[in-house]
Amino acid sequence: MPAHNEISVVTGAFGFTGKYIVRRLLSRGNSVRTLTDHPERLDPFGGTVEVSPFNFADRSALVRSLRGASTLYNTYWVRFPYRQVTYEEALANTRVLLGAAEDAGLRRIVHLSITNPSEESPHAYFRGKAIVEREIRASRLSHAILRPTVIFGTEDILINNIAWFLRRFPLFFVPGSGDYRLQPVFVEDVAVEAGEREDNTTIDAVGPETFTFEALVRRVAEQLGSRAKIIHATPRLALTLSDIVGRMVRDVILTRDELEGLMANLLVSESEPTGRTSFSSWLEANSATVGKRYASELARRYRAAK
Ligand SMILES: NC(=O)c1ccc[n+]([C@@H]2O[C@H](COP(=O)([O-])OP(=O)(O)OC[C@H]3O[C@@H](n4cnc5c(N)ncnc54)[C@H](OP(=O)(O)O)[C@@H]3O)[C@@H](O)[C@H]2O)c1
Repeated sequence: MPAHNEISVVTGAFGFTGKYIVRRLLSRGNSVRTLTDHPERLDPFGGTVEVSPFNFADRSALVRSLRGASTLYNTYWVRFPYRQVTYEEALANTRVLLGAAEDAGLRRIVHLSITNPSEESPHAYFRGKAIVEREIRASRLSHAILRPTVIFGTEDILINNIAWFLRRFPLFFVPGSGDYRLQPVFVEDVAVEAGEREDNTTIDAVGPETFTFEALVRRVAEQLGSRAKIIHATPRLALTLSDIVGRMVRDVILTRDELEGLMANLLVSESEPTGRTSFSSWLEANSATVGKRYASELARRYRAAK
């Protein structure tokens, strides 16, 4: 955690994880700036966070927006390629951001990656994350690289939308065997981990409970009192069905990369859990609201401010 008089820059302060990191920094008395393409989103910090655009195409403007800060908390990445923003573009933009942070004289980067990134991965998301990690380690900045699994919290998308499906449809299709695992981590626990560390480190940010995908779906169904029948489908059929519903809600619900990553057990860690909050207790406490509304990635990014 930076000293009280230091300035931190957090990407995406009005998004998901960034918001919780900012909240924690502000509660510790730090000054915070954010980089975002969505300055119009609801500002939960009452104007106390200074806002600049990402400015990837204008490096000197980006350096100016970082100058004077000590630590960059980087959440920037793309969940899936859409319109002009591909993984290659995200990687190039991250390089620009990293170089600008060095030029602006920042001391440290706290970077959100993903569990099990690999430059040999067949999945572009995991491959890109591994390349970014290598470049951060080679940079002049001290670094904490946090590798979360699925992050849950009020504003998350995956868990919320599993609940939305279970509330809305009579059937829920589990892709394949459903015995692949995931280890959800609470967004506030990720923010705590991001703020606490001062060493050069790469660490999985994972919750205390591991579920098979099917067990997680059944746990959500049980908490909601959903009567949806949970049945197995081939991954291909599950993706086709999610595409059809995706068209109805004008979103990309699940990508092939995400499904294959999940089914390959890439969202689970061999390390000791770092997060303390159990998914089960969070779900119980939030069962009245989770999944009441569909959470749309595309609406958040490209349509009305949400
Ligand atoms: N959410 C999860 O379950 C999860 C799991 C494992 C790892 N992670 C990693 O944790 C980090 C934070 O995730 P999050 O869910 O909290 O992300 P988020 O708030 O949706 O977005 C994080 C930042 O990336 C920018 N961004 C996202 N998609 C973009 C796109 N298509 N084009 C341009 N900019 C984009 C956002 O810009 P704006 O500020 O303009 O919105 C924001 O600054 C990411 O690096 C993600 O890969 C997330």
